[in-house]
Amino acid sequence: MRVALTGATGFLGLRLVRELLERHDSLTVLAHAGSACALGRIARFLELTDAPGALIADLPRRLRVVEVDLGRPGLGLTDEAFQRLADELDVIWHSAGNINLDDDIGNLRRVNVEGTRRVLELAAAGSRKPLLHHVGTAFVGGARREGVVYEDELDSRHGFENNYERSKYEAEVLVHDWARAQGRPVVVMRPSILVTDLPPYPELPQHPLQFLSRIVRASLRSDGSGPGVPEDRRPVVRLAGHPEGHLNLMPVEHAAAVMVRLASRPPSGRADVYHVVHDHDVAATVLTALMERIAPVKVRLVEKRPDDPEPLEAAADLFPGFTPYLSHRRRFDDTRVRALLGPCSSGIRVDLDYLTTGTTPTPPPDGNPTLVPAGTS
Ligand SMILES: NC(=O)c1ccc[n+]([C@@H]2O[C@H](COP(=O)([O-])OP(=O)(O)OC[C@H]3O[C@@H](n4cnc5c(N)ncnc54)[C@H](OP(=O)(O)O)[C@@H]3O)[C@@H](O)[C@H]2O)c1
Repeated sequence: MRVALTGATGFLGLRLVRELLERHDSLTVLAHAGSACALGRIARFLELTDAPGALIADLPRRLRVVEVDLGRPGLGLTDEAFQRLADELDVIWHSAGNINLDDDIGNLRRVNVEGTRRVLELAAAGSRKPLLHHVGTAFVGGARREGVVYEDELDSRHGFENNYERSKYEAEVLVHDWARAQGRPVVVMRPSILVTDLPPYPELPQHPLQFLSRIVRASLRSDGSGPGVPEDRRPVVRLAGHPEGHLNLMPVEHAAAVMVRLASRPPSGRADVYHVVHDHDVAATVLTALMERIAPVKVRLVEKRPDDPEPLEAAADLFPGFTPYLSHRRRFDDTRVRALLGPCSSGIRVDLDYLTTGTTPTPPPDGNPTLVPAGTS
């Protein structure tokens, strides 16, 4: 079976590659044209996560890299190369995307919506009718802050918290329309926010909370604040949020394992949508406690964004696409996943310690600070 994957060098894609290599002898990596060597980045990830040496040594034989650009017609391939690729494939995983929550909607649509359209064209062109596994997001649920979001829901009634959510919603609408029009099955996997307890390394992609931690550290540095500020002298930072807010944070390694298990089940023949979410939510107050561990501040959740933000508060809000999530109290239903796979708890407790480990750069044993995340030094 010939399996191809977009986004293989991403935060999620790297874990999907590792899972898929356990089930398939070879993979076609549809790597981002013009980006740094995909094979090298995948090998580096496997080294940093203690993969067996034999697996790493065998990568050049097992991974075939085809460079594509989601932002260009025909994925940037010639017509012949596009058709040849399409005709070879039995399965396409589409994980590539732009996850910059606040990016310009045009940039987000170019990769997330038009890119998905081109992957659908690839699936439509293939003589072997490749099955598409589309990586969506549970956040197509949009700006609905309370209640239960079910796997069969896809509507824009509640609006969106940021441009990213909107672009992922539009991409998923395309996928459903395509499946109906072509009479073809598709599998849509919707993870919640992906996290890890693997410390950030400059050469690995970051997850949203690692971005947040990087921004908080960098903004404090520019403010002249430093570590070691006594508890009673820490400045108060007011952030809009709900004291009973909670968020679903899914360990990325577990998400990839669940997704690959779901993909091994026969599709129903139409669009099968799955919420790939963790079995417990994390309180918004755990996230504020995380910020207090990262930076010498006291974080207070307030009802709405202060009209008169202190400079530090304005800096803490540098990732405004994320802040609304501190007010969320909704839950994602994952009945379909549990019906298919049975209870599949990872046994991982996502708590303050887990999140601290995953957002704190590890000093190397020799004290050389080369592992400070990119952009903070
Ligand atoms: N991270 C999360 O918390 C989260 C949560 C829910 C859903 N998701 C979804 O999961 C998927 C993967 O996210 P991620 O966290 O792995 O993102 P990521 O770390 O930012 O990785 C994005 C991947 O897409 C590739 N890519 C970007 N632009 C491209 C283009 N124009 N052409 C071809 N490839 C391109 C990147 O290649 P280069 O590295 O070479 O640029 C990279 O491999 C996305 O669809 C995202 O919406 C993510």
